[in-house]
Amino acid sequence: MKKQILVAGGTGYIGSHTAVELQEKGFEVIIVDNLSNSCFEVVDSISKITGIRPIFSKIDLSEKYSTDNFFDNYPNISAIIHFAAYKAVGESVAKPLEYYFNNLNSLMNIISNMKRHNINNLVFSSSCTVYGQPAQLPVTEITERKPSESPYGNTKAISEDIIRDCCSANPQLNCIALRYFNPIGAHPSALIGELPIGVPNNLVPFITQTAAGIRKELSIFGNDYNTPDGTAIRDYINVVDLAKAHVVAIDRLLNKKGKSNYEFFNIGTGEGYSVLQLVKTFMEVTGVNLSYKIVGRRAGDIEKIWADTTFANQELGWKSETTLEETLKSAWEWEKNIAHSVSNKDER
Ligand code: NAD
Ligand code: WQD
Repeated sequence: MKKQILVAGGTGYIGSHTAVELQEKGFEVIIVDNLSNSCFEVVDSISKITGIRPIFSKIDLSEKYSTDNFFDNYPNISAIIHFAAYKAVGESVAKPLEYYFNNLNSLMNIISNMKRHNINNLVFSSSCTVYGQPAQLPVTEITERKPSESPYGNTKAISEDIIRDCCSANPQLNCIALRYFNPIGAHPSALIGELPIGVPNNLVPFITQTAAGIRKELSIFGNDYNTPDGTAIRDYINVVDLAKAHVVAIDRLLNKKGKSNYEFFNIGTGEGYSVLQLVKTFMEVTGVNLSYKIVGRRAGDIEKIWADTTFANQELGWKSETTLEETLKSAWEWEKNIAHSVSNKDER
């Protein structure tokens, strides 16, 4: 019998790539999503890639009644990966209550149903945002968390704390939080990828949309940082490599390999690249000339961050594999394919 994994937020960017990797490793995937930031066609794309159609249920996980009802109808779930959250940093500053309501209620509704149905394994999507601007680089898992700059970031810190406290109250519960650095790129099939609605906030979708002629010009936010070329540095992790980290985390939970019942890992490449390096690499690997200008810093941005991934490499036996060049090429292939593959392209 295949083990059933619930992928909450599974039609989203990282969830859809993880659903593919789980199916390819022989798990049965159930996707729950309210489609607030994704579209139903993603289920078709996952089926096309893997030859297997995941179960899909349209549920708002922040609503207790429908979430309870869903769990009553699916009694054989072995583990849950919880991606479902709002994630736009700027929007969270304007709409803090929506972010706290959605991100925290969804998590609490899931955990309370884990208790009701004796499901003991949870992987949670956390973020490097919990480190703020760290005093020392690269950041390890014992680098202290900083107070969040945004309500979004705060929902990640609070969610980690909720999970930690539930794990200490219930020794049966096993949870892993994965602190993602900057996920970019798309599946090599170009059938799934990142699908921002409206003007993208993140760098790579803005680059690919500019290259595609949807945006006129990329603005590079600041070239007066204390970095070699003056632009900010991040650790850009390939989304398929990131998806594979979830499969490894699920395996660790199901096979009780954890050192404690709450663990957290940095998931990045271990290397930092500047905005200008990314822009230049994109132009080199795609042959597309990108129009860009330097503007002032973006409020709330940090100067530089990249991960120390030693703990994830050694404990999980996971390592990022894809080069930045391959990842940027995959993002471009996806951008070129979006025009004829998804229904919310008109909102771009
Ligand atoms: P995404 O928006 O593409 O995917 C999230 C999915 O969750 C969407 O399909 C959305 O419709 C769904 N969702 C949101 N609220 C829901 C609710 N109440 N009920 C059911 N479904 C709901 O985002 P993503 O980039 O795939 O991110 C996945 C997770 O990883 C999020 O928790 C995000 O905060 C976290 N994360 C993302 C990044 C990043 O840069 N993409 C970095 C660090 C952490
Ligand atoms: C990367 C770099 C920008 C757009 C965000 C969230 C973080 C996490 C990952 C979820 C920065 C620069 C960007 C543009 C630019 N998400 N940039 N022009 O800010 O590192 O992190 O996503 O947890 O919480 O804050 O990612 O892709 O927005 O920016 O110059 O049009 O690109 O200033 O230096 P960021 P990003």
